[in-house]
Amino acid sequence: MATKKITRRQAITAASAGAVGAFVNLSLPSFSAIQVGQEKLAINGGKKVHEGSWPEWPVWDQSAEKNITSMLRSGNWYRGDGEHVIDFENRYAELMGAKRCLATSCGTSALIVALQSLGIDAGDEVLVSPYTFIATYNVIFMSKALPVFVDSDPETFLIDPSKIESRITDRTTAIIPVHIYGLPVDMDSVNTVARKHNLKVVEDACQAWLAEYKGKKVGTLGDAGCFSFQNSKNLPAGEGGAIISDNEEFMDRCHSVHNCGRPYGSIKRTSAYPINGGNYRMQQIQALILMSQMNRIQRDADIRLANAKFLDIKFREIPGIVPYKLAEGGERSAYHLYPFRYQKEKFNDIPKETFIRALNAEGIPCSSGYGTQNKDGLIDEALNSKGFRRLFSETRLKQWREENVLPGNDKLCSEAVTFYQSILLGSISDMQDIVNAITKIYENRASLTA
Ligand SMILES: Cc1ncc(COP(=O)(O)O)c(C=O)c1O
Repeated sequence: MATKKITRRQAITAASAGAVGAFVNLSLPSFSAIQVGQEKLAINGGKKVHEGSWPEWPVWDQSAEKNITSMLRSGNWYRGDGEHVIDFENRYAELMGAKRCLATSCGTSALIVALQSLGIDAGDEVLVSPYTFIATYNVIFMSKALPVFVDSDPETFLIDPSKIESRITDRTTAIIPVHIYGLPVDMDSVNTVARKHNLKVVEDACQAWLAEYKGKKVGTLGDAGCFSFQNSKNLPAGEGGAIISDNEEFMDRCHSVHNCGRPYGSIKRTSAYPINGGNYRMQQIQALILMSQMNRIQRDADIRLANAKFLDIKFREIPGIVPYKLAEGGERSAYHLYPFRYQKEKFNDIPKETFIRALNAEGIPCSSGYGTQNKDGLIDEALNSKGFRRLFSETRLKQWREENVLPGNDKLCSEAVTFYQSILLGSISDMQDIVNAITKIYENRASLTA
């Protein structure tokens, strides 16, 4: 199959000039021009479309080793022993356009600290997107609050803002919009409802470094923005997290809460531990790894964006392959994963799992996205627990169960397919291989069996 190769640099230049569409159409064959129909699928013993490897993740930066070795040899490993964590906080706050940043041990602890510092308490209800990593629910349960799921919009993969208000009760104190996969939530709509009902807004931006909404970085749009730097993330450090905000008093409280309740800034020394807290501190080594990874974050983000725009355009030409839609006001995704929906009715009703296996066999790694976790056992375990039955009436828990019907999310879970972020760091011909492989499966759908 002859496809004209173009360099990644050309693609990025085109993307940044806003000319991806024109560039792509000029330089690459369209769906109808790709001659893949006659080839046997790899899953059926044919030759795979993509023979090569894919970029590995994470990528180590050897220039960081000098600083890390010297810190390790000094024995000053704890955040209080040096400046590295503070240096990272300053640099991350600047990158995000936020006044303050507090580094934490991980994204989960960033969310825990933010919720506690905003006063989310036992017996509260917290509105949340069901389409997320489990940590987003877990932190609500850890606060002894009730997660109340707001249905997803399958087109955007995000919370459907029009469904928020009907889920509010007199116990609701906060909402956690999740910028899943790096896709920006329509934050104006979320904030409008939140202001009307006096709710705190904690953005789960754990997958959304450098994503943009109406010209601002996500994580700066609510009361707090929480990030993860776990090893798979676009900014990795093994483990790590951060909270950002412009609210000095709130950030002082977060600092204190994350450091066992010790005084900090406006949290005055009325005693050794004036408020309730825990240990959620980042270590110096995490900060040093992060500082080295910061050198590549923007460049990587630009490559992912250019490649994603290419896929967006090409996927629209393949029947039954529907790329994500940016929500109102969303300008740029972080592409922690690149998501699209697979409509099996256009593929002879071949189940999604078979499609994924066929695509994997063509040499294209992809996976299935999140499942319908709102129906998972952990929910029942929490709802049936002694503590929850003390905190919430039987009537409320019964109503919660009855309302845990989320057709938008069910549809999304049944159709979503994702590519991991490092796939998007491949070359433009790698992206063309993805398009060719899906096209090949479409053309040969009759040869697939469930
Ligand atoms: C959406 C989301 N929220 C929260 C977290 C929790 O972050 P961590 O794993 O760093 O604790 C993650 C991490 O995967 C995440 O993807």
